[in-house]
Amino acid sequence: MTERLEDIAQAMVQPGQGILAADESTGTIKKRLDSIGVESSEETRRDYREMLFRTDDAMNNYISGVILYDETLRQKAADGTPLVDLIKSAGAVPGIKVDMGAKPLAGHAGETVTEGLDGLRERLNEYYELGARFAKWRGVISISDTLPSKTAVSVNAHALARYASLCQEAGIVPIVEPEITMDGATSTHDINRCFQVTLETLQKTFAALDEQEVNLEGMILKPNMIVPGINCAQQASVEEVAEKTLLCLKTAVPTAVPGIAFLSGGQSEEQATAHLSAMNAMGDLPWALTFSYGRALQAAALKAWGGKSENVAAGQRAFTHRARMNGLAAVGSWKQDIEAA
Ligand code: 13P
Repeated sequence: MTERLEDIAQAMVQPGQGILAADESTGTIKKRLDSIGVESSEETRRDYREMLFRTDDAMNNYISGVILYDETLRQKAADGTPLVDLIKSAGAVPGIKVDMGAKPLAGHAGETVTEGLDGLRERLNEYYELGARFAKWRGVISISDTLPSKTAVSVNAHALARYASLCQEAGIVPIVEPEITMDGATSTHDINRCFQVTLETLQKTFAALDEQEVNLEGMILKPNMIVPGINCAQQASVEEVAEKTLLCLKTAVPTAVPGIAFLSGGQSEEQATAHLSAMNAMGDLPWALTFSYGRALQAAALKAWGGKSENVAAGQRAFTHRARMNGLAAVGSWKQDIEAA
């Protein structure tokens, strides 16, 4: 029996839980492993991710879904158990990154369009057989005083909607991710510029989803928060980020969308947690608000592990701590003093 898209989406944003983005491509995971002096091989990538997925406390209590890369979806743990089965047995939903990356947009220097639509129907059907019940596609919008162009926003919105529609046909919940980057080339833009560009991008994305008749109740939105660029002289308080992000989302995101799961995008681990908690504490929201963090969930665990089998328990402790902090943030109950304790 196929599960309903709406039920899968609700499970992904259940109270106090969120999504672990562990879908780094082979190139990106190599950078992460390089940073701890570990050579990237099929085995080390497996060992690292197996450590995360076997962290029972984090996985059972705070993680509702895991986004995987193609290799990981097909990989087995050291004892032969498919990694997908570890995720399922922890009560989390396995998901898959299906885009083929952001590629230079013709005629638009410094901008990209995400590719991967050709053959996507067939790939989705195979991913479904392999156990994936949700997918992710990331459109990247570069921001500056003059970027993005209308073209970049519109082609990425169109591709996101094409992808979302194909996912739903295959019984897979699409995570729709239009990311306005905070850590791009110059990143000196201020928080108001981020607000303006994010609002326009979300509005165009929902117009494309509407035009292509995507079922909003069977999707999850993965947006950036409204933050200044990392090199902007004027940084923002937690409260300002929370207020501006909520205003932007309330203006652009239909209430039929069951949940919004933020990317961390280069925020520190604690910032990403504090922002999410502040928004949930403000309350009275029409959708669930949670996390779909990559770096902000994994950085401490990666460092504590350091590629050594004797450090697996330390890596798992670090992952559990971060997952628990974000689980609290997903219900607005995180406090700085719990962080230290
Ligand atoms: P970050 O949280 O590290 O930005 O990664 C989330 C993600 O999946 C981006 O596509």
